[in-house]
Amino acid sequence: MERTFVMVKPDGVQRNLVGEVIRRFESKGFTLVGLKLMSVSRELAEQHYDVHRERPFFAGLVEFITSSPVVATVWEGEGVVASARKIIGATNPLTAELGTIRGDYGVSIGRNLIHGSDAIETAQREISLWFKDEELVSWKPSLTSWLY
Ligand code: PPS
Repeated sequence: MERTFVMVKPDGVQRNLVGEVIRRFESKGFTLVGLKLMSVSRELAEQHYDVHRERPFFAGLVEFITSSPVVATVWEGEGVVASARKIIGATNPLTAELGTIRGDYGVSIGRNLIHGSDAIETAQREISLWFKDEELVSWKPSLTSWLY
C-alpha cells in the first residue's frame, strides 16, 4: 500500500493545528502508520530540503524548520501521495483553494504550515530520512474493508 510523508511545520504546531491536520487525513480515510513530535537538526533539515539548496529561500527555510518542534507523520492508503498534496493545497497559501489546509489557515509562503511529499519516490526517500523502520507500524484498521 502507498505511503507518504507529511510534516506539520513549526508554525502549524505553534498555531495548534496538529489535531486539525490529523483529523483531515483520518477523515479522508488514510491510515496513520508513523507519528512523532520532534526538534529537527540542521543536518536533517538540510537533507530534507537538499533539492532546494540553490534556491534563495533555502537558508531561511532550514532556519525556520529547526526553530521549533515539528510533527512528522506517515500516512498509508491508495493514492495517498497525490491525495495528500490536494488536502494540503498549493505552496502559496494565498492561492491555495479554500477547503485545503493551506487555503484555510495560511497567508504566507514562508509559513505554509505543512509539508507533503510531492511524488511516490520522494515519499520513500523522506520516510526513510525521518523514520526508522521500527518506528512505523503496519496495521489495518477494521474500517479499511468499508473504504476499499
Ligand atoms: S513544491 O511544490 O514543493 O515543489 O514548491 P516549491 O515552490 O518548489 O517549494 C519548495 C519548498 O520550499 C518552500 N518555499 C519557501 N519557503 C520559504 N520562503 C519561500 N519564499 C519559499 N518558497 C518556497 C515551499 O513551502 C516548499 O517546502 P515544503 O515544506 O515542501 O512545503
